[in-house]
Amino acid sequence: MTEFKCSMCGGRAPLETRTFRCGCGGLYKLDFTPPEFSLSLIDKSQFNIFRYRAFMPLHNDLWSGITLGEGLTDTVAYKDGLYFKLDYAMPTLSFKDRGAAVLVWLCKTIGVDKVVQDSSGNAGNSVAAYCARAGIKCEIFVPKGTSPKKIKMIEYHGGKVTVVDGSRDDTADVCRKKASEEGLYYASHVYNPVFYQGTKTYVYELFEQMGRVPDNFFIPVGNGTLLLGCQTALTELFEAGLINKLPKLFIVQSEKCAPFYMADKEPRKITPGHTAAEGIAIGRPMRGVEILAGEYSGMREVVLIPESGILPARRELAENGFFTEHTTAAVYAGYKEYAKNNDILGDSVISLCGAGLKSEK
Ligand SMILES: Cc1ncc(COP(=O)(O)O)c(C=O)c1O
Ligand SMILES: [Zn+2]
Repeated sequence: MTEFKCSMCGGRAPLETRTFRCGCGGLYKLDFTPPEFSLSLIDKSQFNIFRYRAFMPLHNDLWSGITLGEGLTDTVAYKDGLYFKLDYAMPTLSFKDRGAAVLVWLCKTIGVDKVVQDSSGNAGNSVAAYCARAGIKCEIFVPKGTSPKKIKMIEYHGGKVTVVDGSRDDTADVCRKKASEEGLYYASHVYNPVFYQGTKTYVYELFEQMGRVPDNFFIPVGNGTLLLGCQTALTELFEAGLINKLPKLFIVQSEKCAPFYMADKEPRKITPGHTAAEGIAIGRPMRGVEILAGEYSGMREVVLIPESGILPARRELAENGFFTEHTTAAVYAGYKEYAKNNDILGDSVISLCGAGLKSEK
């Protein structure tokens, strides 16, 4: 039986639990071992992430009324051994739909009728859209300065938006307080480990499309939802003997907000500066210790994004047909800076994680 397991004391809770962390304060992980990965277990009749549901802890068919056709984004060669995975081509125009689809499946399964969540905008867009489809009410907390288009989109989906006069980290504090005080379900992409069962599909798709995975993954990391999903899925492929080497993961962070840079066992205590990469402006990543503990046995390195490189990178991508939001362009700027100063062995993939119109005024 799949259960939550506390990352600190090992205590257990059923998936039905309405608490978002263990009584000891520890965050939940998922106690779930999927079957060995095999292309033959993919449901090829489904053109959404649930084609991989054999490797997810789904015990009912409610997903079929929740999917919005997320996933199956193309992986295109850009230049010089660099691939872009077009995750902006999703129902709500960011990679977060991968995780939100599975998280809202859980909410529906356990009969939740209202959720709260905090976000820099994209995860809020995703949760609002899937909640709309599932008939669940939601309230999303975003920090002041969030791109107006992201706020509008949440409202169009029927979600209530509360703008917090503070940082992204303050916003999460306000939302968690409300969830605790009012006993509301905290549909957090950071706290709820079911979300990572959706972000795993980023890797499954690469493997299905290429018959292998690239040697290097450049991953935007704020709270690390894509990073953690990638680590899990790559480890699954490796253990199944389908890849013979674990790729190198580049943890891409803004030079203005890089708690993982030079960190040892805990994220560094930093004061975030302003960055155009709003999606990764996380000063206190809640799974920071877990991320640094490195359950991934492949190589990893933190790459810093030069703030001055974000707008030129965004322009270059747009002039080549790829219209991305600033956070996405920032990852490409980080890649370019790294490539200027280092030899990158083998080929690389960057997630084009969010669409350009989202960050236009
Ligand atoms: C476009 C975009 N990229 C990357 C991220 C970072 O994701 P995470 O905080 O899960 O690491 C976000 C988060 O909101 C985002 O919106
Ligand atoms: Zn505990």
